[in-house]
Amino acid sequence: MSHIKIIYGTTGGNTELVCQFVAEKLKDKHAVTLERCELTDPKKVTDCDFLILASPTYGHGVLEMHFAQFFPKIQDVDLGGKPCAVITLGDPKYDMDYFLESGKILTEFLETHGGRVALDSLKIAKTPLPYLSKSVMMWVQKLCEILKGNKK
Ligand SMILES: Cc1cc2nc3c(=O)[nH]c(=O)nc-3n(C[C@H](O)[C@H](O)[C@H](O)COP(=O)(O)O)c2cc1C
Repeated sequence: MSHIKIIYGTTGGNTELVCQFVAEKLKDKHAVTLERCELTDPKKVTDCDFLILASPTYGHGVLEMHFAQFFPKIQDVDLGGKPCAVITLGDPKYDMDYFLESGKILTEFLETHGGRVALDSLKIAKTPLPYLSKSVMMWVQKLCEILKGNKK
């Protein structure tokens, strides 16, 4: 059993829905901590075996507002090789140049803070509900394989 921490920001609830689904699917086999970023202790970000950061994209390619406020508080974090992943939401109708930009921002953060990105980001391009049972579930299964294989 691994301890997976999911930290997310949401304004409209889509990201929360996805993160709750992911947590629900993992929790039979793993210990899962699911936290809104505004309630997360920045010093405890690394207290887990696997870290997932989740934010939608807003305002022409920036992080969601709660995550944007949380982000400066974790800039000193050293992830020390910890396996990590990103969940990113967006919608091409807003600005194609910045489509799913939050995923790029979070991935760059993980890579530059010593994290080891263990699987491709989960990307949700529209309202998430229709994707839960297929692409989100497939992503969770891939994550479970990684966790089973070598506790990455
Ligand atoms: C004002 C506004 C700006 C947005 N800007 C972008 C953007 O630049 N790029 C993108 O991919 N999605 C953009 N989106 C889409 C959101 O990321 C998407 O609706 C997401 O599911 C919202 O997540 P939430 O409900 O968890 O807050 C924008 C949405 C709004 C309302």
